[in-house]
Amino acid sequence: TYVVVENCIKCKYQDCVEVCPVDCFYEGENFLVINPDECIDCGVCEPECPAEAILPDTEPNLEKWIELNTKYAELWPNITRKGDALADAKDWDGKPGKLAMLSE
Ligand code: SF4
Ligand code: F3S
Repeated sequence: TYVVVENCIKCKYQDCVEVCPVDCFYEGENFLVINPDECIDCGVCEPECPAEAILPDTEPNLEKWIELNTKYAELWPNITRKGDALADAKDWDGKPGKLAMLSE
């Protein structure tokens, strides 16, 4: 599976949503997640993210993000159409410490 990681927080560009063939993205206020049970591992979303915030779970040290994607995919609504990126997305892109700002 693929997972969304920290740099999506407060950016939420949503280019990923448009390309997913199985619509397995779920939307929070300032972050998106992938439902790992629904992702078919096609990989097309990874290069679409301007924030480089999508990674295959074969990358090291992603346990926390696999856990968060799994958790919020159950709590948040499905998203199938791209909306606008968050207003200050460019300013937040690449900033450290964004996990603390994740809105539930
Ligand atoms: Fe969707 Fe493919 Fe990305 Fe999985 S890897 S979230 S199936 S686009
Ligand atoms: Fe987030 Fe990148 Fe999608 S910033 S909403 S994972 S395009």
